[in-house]
Amino acid sequence: MSELDANELLKTDKAHLIHPLSHPQDHTEPLIFVRGKGAVLTDVRGRQYIDGLSGLWNVNVGHGRQELAEAAATQMSTLAYCSAYAGASNVPAIQLAARLSELAYPSLNTVFFASGGGEANESAFKTARFYWKAKGKPDKIKIIARQLAYHGVTLATMSATGMPAYWKMFEPRVPGFTHIPSPYPYRFEGVREGESIGAAASRALEEAILREGPETVAAFIAEPVQGAGGVIVPPDDYFPRVREICSRYDVLFIADEVITGFGRTGRWFALMRWGVEPDILSFAKGITSGYLPLGGIMVSDEIRDTILSVPYEDRWMHAYTYSGHPTCCAVALKNLEILEDEGLVGRAEQMGKKLLEGLQALYELPAVGDVRGLGLMAAVELVADREKKTPFDPVLRVGRRVRREAQERGLFTRFIRDVLALAPPLVVTEEQVDRIVEGLRGAIQAVVPGCA
Ligand SMILES: Cc1ncc(COP(=O)(O)O)c(C=O)c1O
Repeated sequence: MSELDANELLKTDKAHLIHPLSHPQDHTEPLIFVRGKGAVLTDVRGRQYIDGLSGLWNVNVGHGRQELAEAAATQMSTLAYCSAYAGASNVPAIQLAARLSELAYPSLNTVFFASGGGEANESAFKTARFYWKAKGKPDKIKIIARQLAYHGVTLATMSATGMPAYWKMFEPRVPGFTHIPSPYPYRFEGVREGESIGAAASRALEEAILREGPETVAAFIAEPVQGAGGVIVPPDDYFPRVREICSRYDVLFIADEVITGFGRTGRWFALMRWGVEPDILSFAKGITSGYLPLGGIMVSDEIRDTILSVPYEDRWMHAYTYSGHPTCCAVALKNLEILEDEGLVGRAEQMGKKLLEGLQALYELPAVGDVRGLGLMAAVELVADREKKTPFDPVLRVGRRVRREAQERGLFTRFIRDVLALAPPLVVTEEQVDRIVEGLRGAIQAVVPGCA
């Protein structure tokens, strides 16, 4: 496409599109992508970039997969859509639900499909309330979430989100949501003598349950690795303790695996690493590698049995036009087949190690305060003073400038505060991992004095 077309497209975009997280300052020279192959995106001007965040943490099998296009075309020309309200079903939805029950945690065997992660979490909250009402505990309605969490755009999931910037212009929030500190090893405060960070962060959950009153708390929601909050990897003792606390106080544990599901962390689902099972699992993104929108929840057998056992007048009045969408489910089935056939979950573990090692070499730059990651989810946190962990003055916009410099070096990714997030497709090659690290090194050196 010619430069002229590109400029025309840009003008039309600015005239007619509101983008997520919109502000003109963040959209001065947007890239207009036209093609993708593996871990590489091509823009309208013919420039190529490594897709450092797999789209939005979702294109797990990489771009340009003909098999997924064919799965969609075949299903669309056979039966693109039909209702899945009680009384009807379809073959891909049935097969996908069965496949998920094989892949996910042993006690979770039943699926409700939606279209994305926000609706998945919204469904999780409503299911938690339903469950406790059915159990004769109608006062258990509150949700405990964590600071720096991201759970979606609906009012309830926005209220569970633990970053005030997402609330500010949309307040008031839905009542009944409270936040506790994240198990953020680099910045956690409040550890008692002899206590681990995992123990202190999980103690915050117990304290919140007791403060709110266990008889009022329906559920605790957590991303196994926090994504949009800055790729926060918890200490190993955190989730086993969380599980134990939730069980002790009759609080359902919702794992938001919208990013971490389907291989991203080197396991099919992230909590498997710690031998922990949630009561409700939210999924989206990687289930179709983003080729079509699909999300949903899986519930424990106990919750499923409860949903099925209520009297008719109390039935689960949770409607959704695109629940069990045949075409989206057909694409998901093919996507899961690719993940499995190509061993991409193990590859995420292996390439994640290489990426993390590469990024750790960046510690030689004084602005690199913390490097962290799990599987193919990693981050580099930049600081003005490494010893004191002082963030850069926000007016310097260091994260945004480093991101921009990285783009100039063929690496497209996102920053959160001054944290550069990296989560390339699971098909990323070793050579591309090296380019990611070098692109980031060059970008940091170009922006931060004293790093060159
Ligand atoms: C952990 C997590 N939960 C939920 C969501 C919301 O998903 P969606 O944008 O598909 O509604 C996201 C989106 O990035 C996410 O990262």
